[in-house]
Amino acid sequence: MSPTSYRTAPPRGDRLTYDEPGFAPAGAEAGRMAPGSLAERIPKIHLHCHLEGTLRPATFVELADKRGVPLRYRPVSARPPFDFAQGDRGGPYQFEGLQEFLFLFAAVSRSLREPDDYARMAREFVEDALAQGVIYGELFVSPSVWTFFNPGLDVRATMEAVVTELRRARPRAIFKLLPDLTRNFGEASAMETARAMATMTDLDVVGVSLGGDEVHFPARLFVEPFAYARAQGLHCVAHAGEAGEAASVRDAVELLHAERIGHGIHALDDPSTIELLATRRIPLEICPTSNRLTGAALTDHPHPYVDFDRLGCMVTIDGDDPALFGTSITREYELVESIAGPAALERYVRNAIEATFAAPVEKQAMRAQLEQAVAELHERSSS
Ligand code: ADE
Ligand code: ZN
Repeated sequence: MSPTSYRTAPPRGDRLTYDEPGFAPAGAEAGRMAPGSLAERIPKIHLHCHLEGTLRPATFVELADKRGVPLRYRPVSARPPFDFAQGDRGGPYQFEGLQEFLFLFAAVSRSLREPDDYARMAREFVEDALAQGVIYGELFVSPSVWTFFNPGLDVRATMEAVVTELRRARPRAIFKLLPDLTRNFGEASAMETARAMATMTDLDVVGVSLGGDEVHFPARLFVEPFAYARAQGLHCVAHAGEAGEAASVRDAVELLHAERIGHGIHALDDPSTIELLATRRIPLEICPTSNRLTGAALTDHPHPYVDFDRLGCMVTIDGDDPALFGTSITREYELVESIAGPAALERYVRNAIEATFAAPVEKQAMRAQLEQAVAELHERSSS
């Protein structure tokens, strides 16, 4: 096992947010920036954001109560020492490490029962995104998780409910969908989901993604569903190198033809995988707080995005499941600005624009918005 593999997530104690070492928020309170910070003003791009992971904690509690489902989910197959019975320590979103996190993600998904619940989630997401200056997003949704908990759910009606809300953000923001094939349900389910999603390009589906348990469900199981999706003209992205090793990242690229990699952290253990990512310009969707809290990135080292950037990889920044990780895209941008500097943040946002699956005209519009925001900031700081 490589020295940087299988790190331990830091205990969060009773805090709902994670404070990155060296992170000095410019504002008095974390999450509130000094006026004029780039993180505040720069247009924001979501490339790695799970819509279910944006569910506001209060909405989760309300929906779970309404639908009569517990705030915790623990599959019977989970082995000890997995233990949720620690009581609430300040909010419904508590976990330690990636496995517990995935169970939390499942609990959140279980609270969503009707297309109306999903519509509400999307509506609140749009509200929060617009308030932060998000201008574009390719969002993950996990229909196979939805139907695992709610087999009777009409997936097309649910997708329609979500997309109707997302489209209300236009023209201020454009949102598209990358439904997740979810490793944990195996190949047959992934194929079924890929087939269903290929019929929903009218609902802004532009590709498929692959999240879930990377260690027990490796890329080779999903070659066929991804080949099918590609043949249908869908884009392909995959989480890899989060819990899995560098080989998992290589497999996502070579076997699944993933066009972007979610996290990719453990690629740093293998120079040839880094070279593959750098020479093919495969963007990395880095989610700093998520990586700390799931244990993907050691807390006693600078965050690995600094190394990826230095090694010529294309870094982008996002929040993963921002509500569940007690963060937001603004806070992640702020974190990067505070630690790596405004020039690095600007570079990562430029990378994100190029890494989208947007049409050239959409990319051009995003570049123009970015230029304008940067110019305004320079003007303010020189006056
Ligand atoms: N699903 C939602 N968040 C995830 C993550 N960080 N890793 C894998 N699967 C996920
Ligand atoms: Zn993710």
